Amino acid sequence: MKIKNICCIGAGYVGGPTMAVIALKCPDIKVTVVDKDSSKIDRWNGKYQDLPVYEPGLADIIKKTRGRNLFFSTEIDKSIDDAEMIFMAVNTPTKTEGKGAGMAADLRYVENCAKNIAKIATADKIVVEKSTLPVRTAEKIKEILSNNNSDVNFEIISNPEFLAEGTAIKDLFKSDRVLIGGEKTQSGEKAVEALAKIYNRWIPKEKIITMNVWSAELSKLASNAMLAQRISSINSLSAICEKTGADIDELSNAIGLDHRIGPKFLKASVGFGGSCFKKDILNLVYLCKYYGLNEVAEYWHKVIKINEYQKDRFANIIIDELGGNVENKKIAILGWAFKKNTNDSRESAAIEITDKLIENGAHINIYDPKVKESRIKEDLNNIWELKSKSEKDLSNRFSRLEIFNNYKDAIKETHALAIITEWDEFKEINFKLVNQITNKNPKIFDGRLILKESNYTIGK
Ligand code: UDX
Ligand code: UDX
Repeated sequence: MKIKNICCIGAGYVGGPTMAVIALKCPDIKVTVVDKDSSKIDRWNGKYQDLPVYEPGLADIIKKTRGRNLFFSTEIDKSIDDAEMIFMAVNTPTKTEGKGAGMAADLRYVENCAKNIAKIATADKIVVEKSTLPVRTAEKIKEILSNNNSDVNFEIISNPEFLAEGTAIKDLFKSDRVLIGGEKTQSGEKAVEALAKIYNRWIPKEKIITMNVWSAELSKLASNAMLAQRISSINSLSAICEKTGADIDELSNAIGLDHRIGPKFLKASVGFGGSCFKKDILNLVYLCKYYGLNEVAEYWHKVIKINEYQKDRFANIIIDELGGNVENKKIAILGWAFKKNTNDSRESAAIEITDKLIENGAHINIYDPKVKESRIKEDLNNIWELKSKSEKDLSNRFSRLEIFNNYKDAIKETHALAIITEWDEFKEINFKLVNQITNKNPKIFDGRLILKESNYTIGK
């Protein structure tokens, strides 16, 4: 089967960059990315420096492909109708109410997408699960599709995304592996092959792994859980280092040199963030509980608990080091993104650390090179709305917040500064520079192990 038209539903951090790379590598395929959020589509069609997703190298690809064979549109129905292959890259947040609240994935958007595809389709379609989904979701999608439209054949294949934000383009160009899960029927195998052919334009055959749908779905959750587990393991050891005088950097290096362990994902931090790790582990935990595997559920849940502990521990250390009281003290938070080279702040440690410091009466100055002021305020508003007793209480919290467009202004007149994101521009910070800029000799807290000089570094 030759694919000429691809439609991707969801123009977010996954859909946008993935489709840009497919369009770049397959100039003969028309790729249309649709989203229900028209302002997001406008930004994808707007200035290259104001695309909704910041990723190194992305704007250059958009320049080459937009209007050639890559299109961003709000015409969802038409794009579905035109395409032989449809990617679903809509978000799957953790459920906030009902059965499984706080743990299970909210499949509302995925189900709506499936219903819409069924309504529109007049010819056979291959539907690709790109969003990370709980195991056996494909079955549910298939059911929705065939119950709502029995005239055409739908093949559901799972093709989980392994790109990491900040290196998305690099990861897409040179993937460790591409997983494609499909049914072992003749039409299922054909669908898998059609997608494999697309990836094979730039990914060698041996890296394209085909498997059954459930294995593909579970592989994604398991990979993220194992990566997050490494971070929680090293972060738990950082707490022991602080008590014993061992050095976490030296420990990471020593452990990572064992080739059975390897050096990656052993960097101690203020805790992992991002849209995937917490959500995917919660998903896994929920799945275990559903199958009555309570010990397994507890085991994975601990990875998240250590992460919460690490964020809280960092905030407590700032408070302790400032004499146990931060009331009316000014503290700069440097970095709001959950890691460098992205404008994404979902689940960033900065959010909870800021909240805790403000809860304790501090004034906070914030600076991030890529996250917009409106986003920072939205992140805080999301938790403060629930916590605040009144409008006055809410505006009181916001009155303790100031956002800056460079770090030098943000650290002026502060009692302390805390580095949360490892942005390269923070590497130049040291006591001498800080003392030149400020006149209060603020304490420096390094949450990302990027400074040789600081009053406090995790694990040291
Ligand atoms: C999302 C999921 O969070 C992740 O689990 C999955 O692996 C990939 O998709 P991401 O791309 O980072 O990740 O999410 P986001 O940036 O929020 O993008 C999703 C987009 O889908 C949003 O732009 C949203 O407006 C759009 N959407 C959502 C639709 O177009 N239609 C819907 O019904 C729901
Ligand atoms: C992750 C997975 O890596 C990717 O394969 C999957 O598709 C999506 O989820 P992402 O969340 O974008 O990607 O970024 P990642 O590089 O994994 O970092 C996640 C968090 O872990 C960040 O907050 C990062 O700072 C933190 N981290 C990472 C550490 O604290 N220490 C490390 O050693 C590595």
